[in-house]
Amino acid sequence: MARKKLTVVGAGHVGAHTALWLALKELGDVVLLDIIEGVPQGKALDLAEAAPIEEFDSRIKGTNDYRDTENSDVVIITAGIPRKPGMSRSDLINTNVGILKSVVEGIVKYSPNAHLLIVTNPLDVMVYAAWKFSNLPPNKIMGLSGALDGGRMRAFIAMELGVSVEDVHAMVIGGHADEMVPLKRYATVSGIPVTQLLSPEKVDAIMNRTKKAGGEIVGLLKTGSAYYAPSAAVAEMAEAIIKDKKRVIPCAAYCDGQYGVRGMFIGVPAVLGANGVEKIIEIELEDNERKEFNSSVAAVKGLIDELKIGK
Ligand code: LAC
Repeated sequence: MARKKLTVVGAGHVGAHTALWLALKELGDVVLLDIIEGVPQGKALDLAEAAPIEEFDSRIKGTNDYRDTENSDVVIITAGIPRKPGMSRSDLINTNVGILKSVVEGIVKYSPNAHLLIVTNPLDVMVYAAWKFSNLPPNKIMGLSGALDGGRMRAFIAMELGVSVEDVHAMVIGGHADEMVPLKRYATVSGIPVTQLLSPEKVDAIMNRTKKAGGEIVGLLKTGSAYYAPSAAVAEMAEAIIKDKKRVIPCAAYCDGQYGVRGMFIGVPAVLGANGVEKIIEIELEDNERKEFNSSVAAVKGLIDELKIGK
């Protein structure tokens, strides 16, 4: 069986760590692309030198040339500027949409059949922009949100209860912004609803921390945003696609009427497999959850309208 090929665009912290997880999982050969000369080459070589120690056989190539990304199966786009303290993800919009346009055009030229996994913020808007710039079918385009936000919520629940992270599941939907919607009714520990294990105050505190978790890291790092959890989460999505696992992972997926949303991407539970987003699962929402979800959708829609792309 021919090896799969995965490209990571952007050799910053998120991109370089994504390349590491992909290689460790041996999902295929990995190309790390950046516009800065030397950085992707240096990081790729460094990773290749870790391969015999950690015993992975993925080949890793660093490059500044889109031709090296030819015929990628999965492309993860992390290029763009990150937040600084005091900034919201939407403050990045104008700079990052320009970067995204040139990246998507460069990628699609050489890999017209790739799945695009977007990490660049503001996330849900960038996924929409990638769709418009690429002309790819929407099932092949998705964005990192719930895999990361749900991972953070799982970490907080496990810390609070002192139980294994393996047994904790949590679901976060809506836009990847402070208006995201953690769903406490769907958070469980080995199937036990967390609402039976923690007081309502503790559950609320965990939900609030989850919503602001990206900003919490930005506040601590001061020079950029999170990268270990974001890179691990997007590698998990890539694995679901490469191995056709049919994992159920909330992510920014194209809605065509589901959840009352049409013609845009927003965080919803999705089945990820060889065909990208193969299905969106519609779960029941209580009135207050639906209200929060709808305002999250409205916030993303407002940003898309401001951008005036694809009209
Ligand atoms: C975060 C950035 C990656 O949530 O959006 O940390």
